[in-house]
Amino acid sequence: MKALILAGGSGTRLRPITHARAKQLLPVANKPVLFYGLESIRDAGVTDVGVVVGDTADEIRAAVGDGSRFGLSVTYLRQERPLGLAHAVSVARNYLGDDDFVMYLGDNFLLGGITGLVDRFRAERPAAQIMLAKVPEPTKFGVAETDASGRVVGLEEKPREPRGDLALVGVYLFTPRVHEAIASLSPSGRGELEITDALQRLIDAGLPVSSALVEGYWKDTGEVEDMLEANRLVLEGVSACNEGTVDAESDLVGRVVVGEGARIVRSRVVGPTVIGPGAVVSDSCVGPFSSIAGGCVITRSEIERSIVLADASITGVSCIEESLIGCAVQIIALAQSVSRAHRFVLADHSRIQVSS
Ligand code: TTP
Repeated sequence: MKALILAGGSGTRLRPITHARAKQLLPVANKPVLFYGLESIRDAGVTDVGVVVGDTADEIRAAVGDGSRFGLSVTYLRQERPLGLAHAVSVARNYLGDDDFVMYLGDNFLLGGITGLVDRFRAERPAAQIMLAKVPEPTKFGVAETDASGRVVGLEEKPREPRGDLALVGVYLFTPRVHEAIASLSPSGRGELEITDALQRLIDAGLPVSSALVEGYWKDTGEVEDMLEANRLVLEGVSACNEGTVDAESDLVGRVVVGEGARIVRSRVVGPTVIGPGAVVSDSCVGPFSSIAGGCVITRSEIERSIVLADASITGVSCIEESLIGCAVQIIALAQSVSRAHRFVLADHSRIQVSS
């Protein structure tokens, strides 16, 4: 069996962060979302992984390399444009050959891994097997209808009037039969080759498509709120660890990870929180539920329930909450004399909420 991990796409919902970087590399508890997927694939006993990449190919390659540090052998497959999940499979047609494969959407976050799902597919070997989760807003997802045994009887992509609340989670298992189904597809109304249409072709041909309900936590990290939620959940599981320095005037409360070479000076850090290597937190209050990446400098500020990417610097800003702050961003409080003025240099699609 091989794996195909999809790390192309546009990431429009996570702009402006995704103007500059691949959404699959956004960190949850200071580790890229994509890495959790790669580890789950390895833990399920699959070592040959095709990674579908688009415009952010260089960044993904730089982060993942040849896969050896995950115990994987990675092959990169270039998709010229994000023309749909089924299109990504067609790009990988030669790489996949006649092997069964697990397809994993690189921005999906599954806390319980995929080992049980892969084992079940290996044992039963239906034409395809999908993973489902009950969701409150099925109109935002691919939705499946199943019979009492969990066999899938129908699928619809982002239906206006959904026939149930079971959404497709971003992990699919396929036999090579799916390639024939994909070859016969034409683009949907939104111009994409839809994987739901390919699955529907298999069902229409009378082939078995089975489903399993997600057991652990699952999140499609497409939007900022999803990233923050996944971050909170992973932080719940961290254990305290200090590889940096914490001065006598600082207080670490609960489970705090202080990375190598990080410095905490006259500050209070409330867990669960991770402070990345080389970061400096001084005269500040950080946490709970915050991930501060390596190289950040937080001075005279307060931040909680947030994700801050590498090398950002925040000075003199109180009450930052539920924020996603990009790499090397600078947020600086103006001196008192300028009073209530705000000055911004913001990328396209930035979102700022200030208290009036
Ligand atoms: P989506 O979240 O469906 O699409 P997107 O990345 O374009 O994001 P947005 O809707 O915010 O614009 O993609 C799911 C995953 O699959 C994600 O990791 C990107 C990847 N993908 C591809 O690799 N190729 C594609 O053609 C598409 C549509 C997605």
